[in-house]
Amino acid sequence: MNIILIGFMGAGKTTVGYRLALRLGYRFLDMDRHLERVHGLKVAEIFARYGEAHFRQQETALLQKLVGHNNLVISTGGGAAASDQNLQLMKQIGSLVYLQAPAETIFERVSRDKSRPLLQVDNPWETLVNLLQKREPYYTQADLTIDINGQSPHSIASSIIKSL
Ligand code: S3P
Repeated sequence: MNIILIGFMGAGKTTVGYRLALRLGYRFLDMDRHLERVHGLKVAEIFARYGEAHFRQQETALLQKLVGHNNLVISTGGGAAASDQNLQLMKQIGSLVYLQAPAETIFERVSRDKSRPLLQVDNPWETLVNLLQKREPYYTQADLTIDINGQSPHSIASSIIKSL
């Protein structure tokens, strides 16, 4: 079995995924870090050099490769689940867990972070709210939704383990 963490930037997918994998004895795969390794570039540099469309193609190609693998916890980038094709692939791969947080919480966590290219704009709050609204219909197709507000990564991982 595999577990796939989805949700917006800053929801804690990487931190929770890492802990979850340790506790379950599964391998941990962070899609952003994997794509960074493959390119030898940070996500922001991949966006700047090759464009967002390229990054999205790479996310899809990686998901295609992951079909058939087992005992993985996969942390996805915030945009990876926001397409029908990727969502179908993720459903083939494993159980989807949506780490849900209100826009205010996400903004607090990511507004000073320069590593997220999509939020390096004049009005990051407006961009965040619009993106979240567009992506919510995809995220909510997860098998399990966890409200992360005020919860530590440890307790989020515990909630996921209990629900397996
Ligand atoms: C993105 C989220 C990022 C990363 C890229 C694009 C998005 O991942 O994949 O900057 O479209 O929401 P995190 O969710 O880990 O920040």
